[in-house]
Amino acid sequence: MYGDDHVICVIEDETSGKIIASGSVFIEKKFIRSCGKVGHIEDVVVDAGARGMQLGKKIVEFLAGHAHSMGCYKVILDCSDENKVFYEKCGFKKKEIQMVSLLFPIFKYRWFYLIDAFR
Ligand SMILES: CC(C)(COP(=O)(O)OP(=O)(O)OC[C@H]1O[C@@H](n2cnc3c(N)ncnc32)[C@H](O)[C@@H]1OP(=O)(O)O)[C@@H](O)C(=O)NCCC(=O)NCCS
Repeated sequence: MYGDDHVICVIEDETSGKIIASGSVFIEKKFIRSCGKVGHIEDVVVDAGARGMQLGKKIVEFLAGHAHSMGCYKVILDCSDENKVFYEKCGFKKKEIQMVSLLFPIFKYRWFYLIDAFR
């Protein structure tokens, strides 16, 4: 969608015309690792009514396959503990840990409550 370096993949339900699954992959060009490339999978989601039909797996396999076809020596993603088995079934394995720096670390939750209050 944004060129070969940033692809958004969707699955459409042809009956309803609605998008029922999506995910994206961003291809990072590195300086180290001999200027190698790394694929970052993000935003994998399947509509609640369409889960359990292998659509998530299709999305992840497509995105990982695209990244590898672009020359990425690895493809990585972050996920919650509850999705670990899903990604293992997509061919991924746990490696290292995630670190984060938030823009509003203290106010993160209150900020969302504030937005909700004005809806
Ligand atoms: C996680 C998610 C994308 C899975 O999509 P899905 O289409 O339901 O998954 P699939 O049908 O492709 O599942 C593939 C395999 O993983 C298994 N699986 C899926 N979700 C699982 C889970 N949370 N825990 C354990 N196994 C899981 C399935 O049982 C299936 O196993 P099988 O091949 O042995 O039958 C979906 O539940 C979702 O959108 N969740 C909310 C958003 C989210 O958490 N996204 C991930 C962001 S990191």
